[in-house]
Amino acid sequence: MQANAPIGVIDSGVGGLTVAKEIMRLLPNEQVIYIGDNARCPYGPRPQAEVRKYTWQMAKALMDKNIKLLVIACNTATAATLESLQKKLPIPVIGVIFPGARAAMKVSATKEIAVLGTIGTVKSGAYENALKSLMSSCHVVQLACPKFVPLVESDEYEGEFARKMVRETLAQLERKHFDTAILGCTHYPLLHDFIQEKFGPSVTVLSSAAETAKDVENHLRFQNMLASADKRPVHKFYTSGSTSIFETIIKKWLEIDKPVIHSIKFPQ
Ligand code: SIN
Repeated sequence: MQANAPIGVIDSGVGGLTVAKEIMRLLPNEQVIYIGDNARCPYGPRPQAEVRKYTWQMAKALMDKNIKLLVIACNTATAATLESLQKKLPIPVIGVIFPGARAAMKVSATKEIAVLGTIGTVKSGAYENALKSLMSSCHVVQLACPKFVPLVESDEYEGEFARKMVRETLAQLERKHFDTAILGCTHYPLLHDFIQEKFGPSVTVLSSAAETAKDVENHLRFQNMLASADKRPVHKFYTSGSTSIFETIIKKWLEIDKPVIHSIKFPQ
């Protein structure tokens, strides 16, 4: 395996770009190859077996491109597949749930933590397990927010409609006590400002993206696999869905003028 080989990042759609952005910021010499399975997004309401099958297809496609490390930048897929992919693949595989739990534990004073996630992530109990493994006495409240991912995938995450949807969904947490809220879906950081506005300044709203990027750096550093600085990497993006919305969001979110975008098809 070459140190200049790319890092693979996979997600059900555009949400994993929030993690890719942090990796690109922290590790500017690294080339990222990203796959968004937009055609089959959202993964959140799907049975775990289906999520495992789709995630494996993306991982396999990236293994064929000789990646040196895989990031599962989707909480639903991390909850369903992290352990099995870590066992099956000959490269390091990093998920987003433990880094998110660790980030929350670092900043929470009261250790009362809210987790916002997809139906699949909430049902899996993966965040609760990760948080309790860090501090068994912490208090965790979870909320599934199934309306959020479609807002982001359709590029409607910035307007008044999105703001209203966020306020209505989060009203369910009004009587709960927490000082930290984890955005337990990689799509949700695009709604960060509306979520923060609803919770107010007493709640720290955080995602796992920056902490996951630190895990990537630590793995590569430890294995002496950080890319050299001889040339600027050209990142590549693949989508199983429409390239036009994908391109709009990449340009806006990653501030890349002319992203290299390809279509990818997966067997059903
Ligand atoms: C989804 O596909 O439903 C959301 C992805 C995630 O859980 O991060």
